[in-house]
Amino acid sequence: MGIATLVLFAAVASPVDYARDVEPILRRNCYACHGSMQQMNGLRLDRPEDALRGSHSGPVIVAGQSAQSKLIQMVSGQAAGKLMPPAGARLTAAEIATLRAWIDQGAPTPITQHPRPAPSHWAFQPIRRPAAPGIDTMIRATLQAKGLAPSPEADKVTLLRRLSFDLTGLPPSPAEVDAFLSDARPDAYERVVDRLLASPHYGEKWARHWLDLARYADSDGYEKDLFRPSAWRWRHWAIEALNRDMPFDQFTIEQIAGDLLPGATADQKVATGFHRNTLKNREAGVNREETRFEEVLDQSNTVATVWLGLTVRCAQCHDHKYDPITQKDHYQLFAFFNSAEDRDLDAPLPGEMGPYLRLRPEYEQKRRAVLEEYGIPALQARWETRILRAMDHPGKDLDWDFSVTGIRASVDHAERNLRQGQGHRLTDYFVSSPGPDNAKDKEVTAKLRQAREKLRELDRTFPALSRALTIAEDPAPVKTCIAVRGDYRRKGVEVQPAAPSFLPPLPAGPEPPRMRLARWLVSRDNPLTARVAVNRMWQEFFGAGLVRTSEDFGTQGERPTHPELLDWLAAEFMDHGWSMKYMHRLMVTSATYRQSSRGREDLKDQDPDNRLLARQSRLRLPAELIRDAALAASGLLYPVVGGKSVRPVQPESVSKLTYSNGAPWQESEGPDRYRRGLYVHYQRTSPYPLLVNFDEPDSNTACTRRGRSNTPLQALNLLNDPVFLETAQALAMRVVAEGASDRFERMFRLCLSRPPDPAEKDRLATFFDRQKTIFQKDPAAARQVAPAPAPGVDPAEAASLVALARALINLDEFITRE
Ligand code: HEC
Ligand code: HEC
Repeated sequence: MGIATLVLFAAVASPVDYARDVEPILRRNCYACHGSMQQMNGLRLDRPEDALRGSHSGPVIVAGQSAQSKLIQMVSGQAAGKLMPPAGARLTAAEIATLRAWIDQGAPTPITQHPRPAPSHWAFQPIRRPAAPGIDTMIRATLQAKGLAPSPEADKVTLLRRLSFDLTGLPPSPAEVDAFLSDARPDAYERVVDRLLASPHYGEKWARHWLDLARYADSDGYEKDLFRPSAWRWRHWAIEALNRDMPFDQFTIEQIAGDLLPGATADQKVATGFHRNTLKNREAGVNREETRFEEVLDQSNTVATVWLGLTVRCAQCHDHKYDPITQKDHYQLFAFFNSAEDRDLDAPLPGEMGPYLRLRPEYEQKRRAVLEEYGIPALQARWETRILRAMDHPGKDLDWDFSVTGIRASVDHAERNLRQGQGHRLTDYFVSSPGPDNAKDKEVTAKLRQAREKLRELDRTFPALSRALTIAEDPAPVKTCIAVRGDYRRKGVEVQPAAPSFLPPLPAGPEPPRMRLARWLVSRDNPLTARVAVNRMWQEFFGAGLVRTSEDFGTQGERPTHPELLDWLAAEFMDHGWSMKYMHRLMVTSATYRQSSRGREDLKDQDPDNRLLARQSRLRLPAELIRDAALAASGLLYPVVGGKSVRPVQPESVSKLTYSNGAPWQESEGPDRYRRGLYVHYQRTSPYPLLVNFDEPDSNTACTRRGRSNTPLQALNLLNDPVFLETAQALAMRVVAEGASDRFERMFRLCLSRPPDPAEKDRLATFFDRQKTIFQKDPAAARQVAPAPAPGVDPAEAASLVALARALINLDEFITRE
């Protein structure tokens, strides 16, 4: 044994310390190409955990077996033709021996040697039910500590108006106000709460919040921004689920993984449409792999925001800079959705199936006849052969390559459909995009055009089933790799679906990973989901969450103002079967909720943002509810619940803004124009201007809390938008038609729920008289303002009533919930 070997042996016989012995070797020789900047072969050696995981082609270190480890084989030149580092100085024998000894000793790393302490951040700690429970007890304890007194209860009308807007999004009718005022029973308030929780409009109000989180829209986004005719079906599901008070754990499981429930019903599959609200780029020529990567990113990041209140998206390209979320955590979450694919399904509503089945045979027969008449089957068969050939041999013919990207962009699973020769969808695609050779043939194009028209005509008369956009597991196994620096083309190590490392692990079991993710989200040990969910409820009832940053429970977010209360609410939520209605009832029956919202001198300095809740908050109504309130007051509101989106009037110039008029805004007819705001068609590239103006979110990413801007444009909007003129006209007609003994008072109550005080009555009368004088002098103007006055009503009087209605709808009080 030579001296050198002896020395070496002595050096490595003692336990190897990663930081002292191994890390310097790797840093000197390997980090330049296997570090944070370059990650050759997806192999990072600068982080011990990553080094142990290896590259995307598998582990390079086998703990305890240096001879089997690729890393050793390569640095020692035993791997045929491969040496590391590939150029420059070789590792010395001593360095190689140290690496060998380290691996043979089990490759201990700082993490295994000195386990990292669990993150101490409050939101990652288990939820503990505090000893002194109750909203009012805890809010008042804080107030008392600051020497502040709570506010008295608001008057009954204000309470009812607040409650009606908060639970159903609609103002109370004057009759409902009267009933509440004359109800002297001690539980009159609780009775109203129960009535409103049972209203079908409750589901609409709370679905709107959920739509914000789900980035719901009726179009694909991107430049083409194609219409999504079936998006509404998921919204319909959400409204119904909320109305039935589906427990939040079930609500979660169905949306994350409803398709994977044993014997999943159509509705449970529809629920997964949550993930289909992602933007979709269907331009011909887009890179499918890239757009899919973007979609899956959005899906997993949205789940992290909505359920966990974490900004996991910040770890797409680098480890999170503030929270303990690594890039690996990010792609482990990504992996749950990477193995899912889009699937569009028939999802009929009650009453659709009967007529469909009855007429189906006749429809099929007529359809076949049309296709035969124009020789479509033969043409289509030839086209299918050509396009499949182009798919198998890309790069031979540019025109056909273009057809291939076209069909891949617009037909989901185009290739599978082609190979399995599937159905109407393919034929419909073929008759409109028949490929380069048919497109050049005039005779064929003419035939195809006629066939297309006839098919369209046939479809118009056939009762279609509602369809739904859902997700399902891809039958082929899908591998997920870390995308180095967030670039989908640069594949790093392979990862498996798993929960973020600093949170409790996923439950083991035979269920598919996505289902286990769903169950993990709503498991008792998950410290985030319940806190995040109750915080958003609080935000709706009090104007701000206990954690104001409802989108971020990480270290960059705000800490809770009342941490014990947050935990108590989260525990209550779970202990009461995750019932959302239970929690809503709990919050709105508290004395804290029932306080007056009036500003107080003593709070101005001590609590200007009302974080301590010594009073209620005055809040401008959300966008949709402003329009809903005007429709309700005027009697125009068409209150059917659920169903398709509608297109009310909007300025023509707006519709023209969209891509080459690809999405013409065809105004809905009849009462559909007067449906609630949450049904207004959402075109991502040109959303309904009135709603945007009042801070409706952009629907591109999950929105957990809306802005509340205050701009002059809003005032102009309220004055000039066609819907407000229309509602003012209808409101004027309504008080005339109802034969109200005091029209002014009736109008006032319809708008603001309360009667006017004597001074206000005077001002109403003065305003009316002044308007009347003006209109009497200008009959043309009167006709313009009130084109169809009720029979027997003086045109100037009708116009003045419209003017009065407009004034009321424009009041700050009208758009405010006290
Ligand atoms: C100058 C850049 C460079 C340096 C320095 C470098 N490597 Fe590499 N490494 C590469 C490249 C490039 C590949 C991919 C080679 C291939 O696939 O043929 C690679 C591949 C590897 C692989 C195989 C990964 C797999 O899964 O197939 C291992 C193991 C490896 N390197 C270890 C090391 C170690 C250990 C060091 C330091 C002692 C090192 N490399 C230094 C460029 C470098
Ligand atoms: C699409 C890729 C990508 C995403 C997503 C991303 N970053 Fe970065 N970020 C980078 C790059 C590139 C750098 C510069 C190099 C580096 O530090 O790795 C960087 C650097 C940073 C830095 C360091 C700046 C400095 O001066 O050192 C911070 C802080 C940061 N990002 C925060 C965030 C946060 C917060 C988010 C989420 C809101 C985020 N990043 C999302 C790519 C990204």
